[in-house]
Amino acid sequence: MKPVHFNNTVLRDGHQSMAATRMKTSQMLPIASLLDSMSFAMLETWGGATIDTSLRFLGEQPFDRVRALRKVAPNTPQGMLLRGQNIVQYKCFPDDVVELFVKCTADAGIEVFRIFDGLNDPRNLAPAIAAVKKTGKVARGEICYTTSPAHTVEAFLKFAGELKDMGCDQIAIKDMSGVITPRVAGELVSGITKLTGLPVTLHSHETAGLAAASYVAATDAGAYAVETSISPFANGTSQPDTLRMLALLDGNPRQPKYDRKKLAELREYFTGIYKEMSAFTSHANEVVDSDTLVYQVPGGMLSNFRVQLKDLNMSDRIDDVLAEIPHVRECLGWAPLVTPISQIVGTQAMLNVKFGRWKNFSPAAMDIVLGNYGKTPAPVDKDVLALAEKTSGKSPMTARPADSLKPNVDNLRKQLAEKNLPNTDEAVVIFAMFPMEYEKLIKDPASISDPVATKAAAAAAAAAPAPAAPAAPRPPDRHQRLLISINGKATEALVEEVR
Ligand code: CO
Repeated sequence: MKPVHFNNTVLRDGHQSMAATRMKTSQMLPIASLLDSMSFAMLETWGGATIDTSLRFLGEQPFDRVRALRKVAPNTPQGMLLRGQNIVQYKCFPDDVVELFVKCTADAGIEVFRIFDGLNDPRNLAPAIAAVKKTGKVARGEICYTTSPAHTVEAFLKFAGELKDMGCDQIAIKDMSGVITPRVAGELVSGITKLTGLPVTLHSHETAGLAAASYVAATDAGAYAVETSISPFANGTSQPDTLRMLALLDGNPRQPKYDRKKLAELREYFTGIYKEMSAFTSHANEVVDSDTLVYQVPGGMLSNFRVQLKDLNMSDRIDDVLAEIPHVRECLGWAPLVTPISQIVGTQAMLNVKFGRWKNFSPAAMDIVLGNYGKTPAPVDKDVLALAEKTSGKSPMTARPADSLKPNVDNLRKQLAEKNLPNTDEAVVIFAMFPMEYEKLIKDPASISDPVATKAAAAAAAAAPAPAAPAAPRPPDRHQRLLISINGKATEALVEEVR
């Protein structure tokens, strides 16, 4: 029996989950060679929200982080999280942009691509998988895990088979909400391993207190790897801590060997970094969110709800809104509660409770119903579809969403040249997703500041000697703006990102 591998997420999901993705490259480099000496099977370092925050708040060229880490930690493959056709954004990009992004990323030093689509629509994954295969790097197809009548073990197995057929080298179960139970984790890992013969990894979050137990079950079921982090960027809304995971596998024939002394050194280093990042950390992220277990919705979504309901003077209706979520999900073809769909479902549930079911149909929910995000796991409700068609004047899209997009790389390159900005391949793919942020970074890097860090520093200076430190404001980069309509009036809602 081979030991189970640990992939380490502290340099990406660890700080995205615990500290609003604000860890700087300069905070990673001093510890990178120690991380490299641990024989983790993979270090997740990039993707997800890291590119966005590098540009907007840290003033860093995103690809530079990958290259710098590659130099200091050359022995451990680096991994990234890629949102399929959305790359690292929330909208769909043309195939040529996806392909060029993957090429640049592979050239910079990423070896493992974790590729997912929130709807598990294979059509939104195929171009990214093909692009990774072209570079010769590892394509790890991610199955987004959620619970619903449409998300059965059989349906997940079918999707795993499709991922294999599309060329994936590895399969992972991506449990972004931390709701997979040990029983299901074991069933899925052994089922997918048997079906595909590929290495299977479980990625979960400790949000509801289930992840570490599910990792043990996955290990017993033959998982190739599980993903852990380093405390204090571990547990809570992040991955289980590596030392804790080792202890949980004590006596298990598949327990891997990791140097505990080095793990203690890593913990000490990251404890210092966690303190430096206190403007972005919060106690709520560190504890098990038992409400998640009660309501079966992601923790991030619940905290967002409370804020939004308060703004709408509906705090007393939270039970009604939570009870409305399954209805909205069913009508929307059991769309999973993952960014950005979780926010759209939540907002629609609120609107249904406030104004009556589907009396106020948000444009974003209409987009899901009309297939603009891809194929939903189950068919959408017929009446709700008819209402969406009537209200929007559009018919449902059955083609792959990116089919309607023309190639755009040449055009982007021209635009950059006209703006007197560098138009290398890396510039093109970053500019495609973050045009304003990229231009600002090149033209006026000194103007990039972090409002949360600045505010926290000012508050600390003004309040000396501080009575009790004011609660850090919720970091804005975990939020995105969503257009909703209330009483026929378009309103922007700030919603929290679910990792
Ligand atoms: Co994650």
